[in-house]
This record gives sequence, structure tokens and C-alpha cells, in this order.
Amino acid sequence: MPRLQCLTMATSLILLLQALSLVSSTILSRADRITRLPGQPRVGFQQYSGYVTIDEKKQRALFYYLAEAETKPISKPLVLWLNGGPGCSSLGVGAFSENGPFRPKGSILVRNQHSWNQEANMLYLETPVGVGFSYANESSSYEGVNDKITAKDNLVFLQKWFLKFPQYLNRSLFITGESYAGHYVPQLAQLMIQYNKKHNLFNLKGIAIGNPVMEFATDFNSRAEYFWSHGLISDPTYKLFTSSCNYSRFLSEYHRGSVSSMCTKVLSQVGIETSRFIDKYDVTLDVCIPSVLSQSKVVSPQPQQVGETVDVCLEDETVNYLNRRDVQKALHARLVGTRKWTVCSDVLDYEVLDVEVPTINIVGSLVKAGVPVLVYSGDQDSVIPLTGSRTLVKRLAEELGLRTTVPYRVWFAGQQVGGWTQVYGNTLAFATVRGAAHEVPFSQPARALVLFKAFLGGRPLPEEF
Ligand SMILES: *[C@@H]1O[C@H](CO)[C@@H](O)[C@H](O)[C@H]1NC(C)=O
Ligand SMILES: *[C@@H]1O[C@H](CO)[C@@H](O)[C@H](O)[C@H]1NC(C)=O
Ligand SMILES: *[C@@H]1O[C@H](CO)[C@@H](O)[C@H](O)[C@H]1NC(C)=O
Repeated sequence: MPRLQCLTMATSLILLLQALSLVSSTILSRADRITRLPGQPRVGFQQYSGYVTIDEKKQRALFYYLAEAETKPISKPLVLWLNGGPGCSSLGVGAFSENGPFRPKGSILVRNQHSWNQEANMLYLETPVGVGFSYANESSSYEGVNDKITAKDNLVFLQKWFLKFPQYLNRSLFITGESYAGHYVPQLAQLMIQYNKKHNLFNLKGIAIGNPVMEFATDFNSRAEYFWSHGLISDPTYKLFTSSCNYSRFLSEYHRGSVSSMCTKVLSQVGIETSRFIDKYDVTLDVCIPSVLSQSKVVSPQPQQVGETVDVCLEDETVNYLNRRDVQKALHARLVGTRKWTVCSDVLDYEVLDVEVPTINIVGSLVKAGVPVLVYSGDQDSVIPLTGSRTLVKRLAEELGLRTTVPYRVWFAGQQVGGWTQVYGNTLAFATVRGAAHEVPFSQPARALVLFKAFLGGRPLPEEF
């Protein structure tokens, strides 16, 4: 009895849920178990997918896909992955093009040799409602969605998801993502920490964000120098792009529907010189890589230019695969209020001005709360260039009074340099990934897996091969 009294409310809640889980977990999650995805090779791990209703009244439901770890899932952490946009799908981009176990190829699925489920149980969430297979029964739910609503919904999702999968309660939990998830991930982590003060539910062990939007001006204004130093724009245009109209000013005007004539002039010149035959998400790549790469309307809107209607992209394998009836059936997915699954939502009306809200301060509060943070950056991306992220991390380390614990140095993947890294106070890490695009696990899967493994293990990146 005295021992029981010693237990905190939270612990007893977890213990109660765990006890219940023995009875109910198999029943609750069994309906979501995927028998086999069409065209899928034989594998030894389990997959689940389906819906978690986050709002009964408005019938708002979020779709998830869980790929359990290839081996010993019980001893491996749970990792949530979120893509950005806002409005792009973690299922289509994250799971089926970046770090999931399979990639669609024609009518079949092929194994991804560098899938992150080698190291963790990977949970992909299509969020907010209106993205991918996630839905609300009334389209008004898609209007005025913002960071605050999304973070809250993501928190409720996880709480309810744990009821379906109580075997994952109190499992080491990491949140990862890229691009606009530089907003989603820290904002969700912050809510978890607040929630934990009352009910210790989330065993949050770290966050990792790739080419993340963390601070509007610094992130977006690093684009000019990136273009210029990679030879994409001329000296005079670089000057215009930094003094007459910088990119944050353009975006700011663009999102408010009033682009000044100066910004129109500058951005048009930038557009002419960089040309539309360059992938802004990887300046070294030939066009066209799948449309999956265009993860953003907000992060990198393309001002309409004369003759810009030609689509140089090939048809996308993921779009084809996820729109097959048999695939949707196997995934327990439904299309509600829309006829087609799309990479990025065309029904969601997201508050675009939220992109201007800084999240670097939230990242700072996480570090202060003892949550390890990794900011990584594909070094060929001009959308959220490494230089902006590096500046922000360094500035944060200074503000928090964190000393360098790993000096700026190369790290290795195999026998080659995987990128550069620096760590502050053992909790705040920065790393570049050499030769990687905005979507690091898509473009450098082997290096991304080395990075992921070190992050989960709380270790600095390999210093030698
Ligand atoms: C949750 O996990 C932590 C270690 O990560 C452990 O100290 C704690 O006792 C666990 N709580 C419960 C209720 O299992
Ligand atoms: C949405 O769900 C609510 C609550 O169940 C219901 O009252 C409403 O009629 C539904 N709307 C549509 C368009 O189905
Ligand atoms: C970008 O432009 C805005 C508005 O003109 C200005 O306030 C800001 O200092 C500029 N930023 C940089 C990095 O040049």
C-alpha cells in the first residue's frame, strides 16, 4: 500500500494503461494491421495504418502509418516523422520517398536498403486534417488552420494513438521531420513538455529537424548568398537581392498579396538567371526528380512567370501507387471530400503568415528542458540553406551559454565524408549532409541513416571510418 501511494498520478496512469493494454491492445490495433501492401516483398516486420479521430464532434480524423522496426521492435524507440509544406504528406513524401521501408516502382514496392525502421519503429502522420488521407467531414475544418491548431491536434493524436498502441506507452520517443516541420516538431515537443508537467505521458528523448524553417528572415535571406556562391545569379543581381528586395521581404509581401514593383523586378531577374530548369531543392540535380520534391507552397512559392506552365516532371510513382483502390483498401484509407490523394493538399487553407513566427526560441526552451536537439541540413538545398540553419544554431548556443563540445569537423558515412558537424553543450547539435537535397533521406539515404543512428544513440557523428 505505501508503495502504491508513492506512485505519482502519472505513473499510475501509465501503469493502468499498460495493464489494460495486455487485454485490449491487440484488439484495438488489430483492425489497423496491414496484412500486405499490394506489390510488397515479403518482410519480417509488422505494419499498421488507419485513423485516429481527434475530434468526434466535427469528425476530424488523422491518418497514420506505422512501420515497426525490422528486428526487435520492443527494444527499439518510437520515432514520429512529419513532413512540411504546410500541407504535404508524411506518408507520400516521408514514408514512400524518403526513409520508409518501401518505395513504389511501377506496380510493385521495392525495399529501401536504408530504411529508418532498421533502427526504430517509424510512425508517419498525415497532418493537419485535409492532408493526404486525413480528413474532416466538413470542409470548414480546413479553413484557417494554423500552427497552434496543428500542434494541438498532433498532441491529441498521440494521446489517442497510445490508447490503440499501449505497448508503446513510455517507450523512448523522438520527433523528427523536415522543412516546415521546423515549426511542427518544436511546437509539438513544447506541448508535450507542458502536458508532462501534469501527466507524465511522453518519454520524449529528442528532436531532429532537417532543413527546417526556424526563423523567417535568417532562413530565407540566406538564399541570396547561396544562389550567388553557387553561381546561380550574377554579382549585380546578388546586390539587388540583398539591398533592394531581399527574399524575406518578397515573401512577406507575397503572402499579403501586395508585391511591390521593386520586389517584382528583383525576383523576376533572379528567376531569369537561376532559370526554371534548376531544382531549388537541390541545385546540383537535373530536373525533374519526382514532384515529391516540391514540398511547399509557403516555403518557396513560385511567382507566376510567362511560359512557366510546362511540367518537366515525369509522373510520380507515389501518387500513382497511393491512388490505387487496392492500395487504399490495404491501408484502411478513405478519401473523404476529395477524389484523389495528393502529395500536398489542395483543400487545406493554412495560415501562411505563421511562417514568419520564429520557432528557434522554442528550440531553445527544449534544449533548456534537457531535450537533445539535432538540426541537420542537406547542403545542396537553396530553399532552406545550411548557412541560415548554422547561423541560427550557433546564435542559440551563444544565447544559452553552451560551449562547443564537438568542434566543427567532418563526419564519416562509410569511407567518405558524410558532412560537417558541431555540437554545443552535448545537447544541441548541427550537421550538414554532403550532397543532400532539401529531402536528406531521399537524396542521401545511406548518410541519412548514419546520422539517424547516431542521433538515436545520443552519440556524436562518426569521427573516422
Ligand atoms: C518510463 O521510462 C523511464 C525510463 O525511460 C523509467 O525511468 C520509468 O520508470 C518508466 N515509467 C513507467 C511507468 O514505466
Ligand atoms: C458532420 O458530422 C456532424 C456530427 O456527426 C454532423 O452533424 C454533420 O451533418 C456532418 N456533416 C456532413 C457534411 O456529413
Ligand atoms: C530584408 O529586408 C527587410 C525589409 O527591407 C529589412 O528590414 C531586413 O533588414 C533585410 N534583411 C537582410 C538580412 O538584409
